[in-house]
Amino acid sequence: MLEHYRKSNWSADLAVVTGDLIQDDSAGAYVHFCQLLGTIGLPVHCVPGNHDIRALMRDALAAPPFHYCDSVQSGNWLIIGIDSCVTGQAGGHVTDSELERLEETIAAAAEPNAMVCLHHPPVPMGSQWLDTVGLDNGDEFLRRVRDMGKVRLAIFGHVHQPYDADHGGVRIIGTPSTCRQFAQASEDFALDDSPPAYRRITLLADGSFEHDLVWLNK
Ligand SMILES: [Fe+2]
Repeated sequence: MLEHYRKSNWSADLAVVTGDLIQDDSAGAYVHFCQLLGTIGLPVHCVPGNHDIRALMRDALAAPPFHYCDSVQSGNWLIIGIDSCVTGQAGGHVTDSELERLEETIAAAAEPNAMVCLHHPPVPMGSQWLDTVGLDNGDEFLRRVRDMGKVRLAIFGHVHQPYDADHGGVRIIGTPSTCRQFAQASEDFALDDSPPAYRRITLLADGSFEHDLVWLNK
């Protein structure tokens, strides 16, 4: 994926990684991640996924170009990462304190538009097994995000497949993995043969945005 990005003529201002940076619970895996992502010359904003170890991840991402659950201004937009993980569980939950931090940060920001980044999908995927490990308070998350008034989109990972739908004025966008993909609409865990992917998102000054999904075999 990094090789594809480097060879493309599309240049980003920052990278967002929506969790599951590692899978083997080791500090060394974060060193490897930082070595790889440190080569693209961009700020790298990360949120934890269920496979991450918060303490190790925070330490590894403590200094620029890496950022852990941080917020950043970009043009007319605030980009903010939140923690949706529950220790020891595959499924997610956004705590009250994290929702309050989100509300306060967005209310205090001068930017009129916001993009929220989290690991778990706040809406059902239509896949029986994945919908048991989604965000268990997705409805509350969406209601409170809508009430904030500035959130135009929320992006997530976790489900290893594409997703894009409007939910009451907030666009919810999921991006496939940079590794293997899960079969869509599957009752049980199943992989498919889709290649790795990443998404290019362009946040425009008027609060609109453009995005496209890049499959690495195309
Ligand atoms: Fe995950």
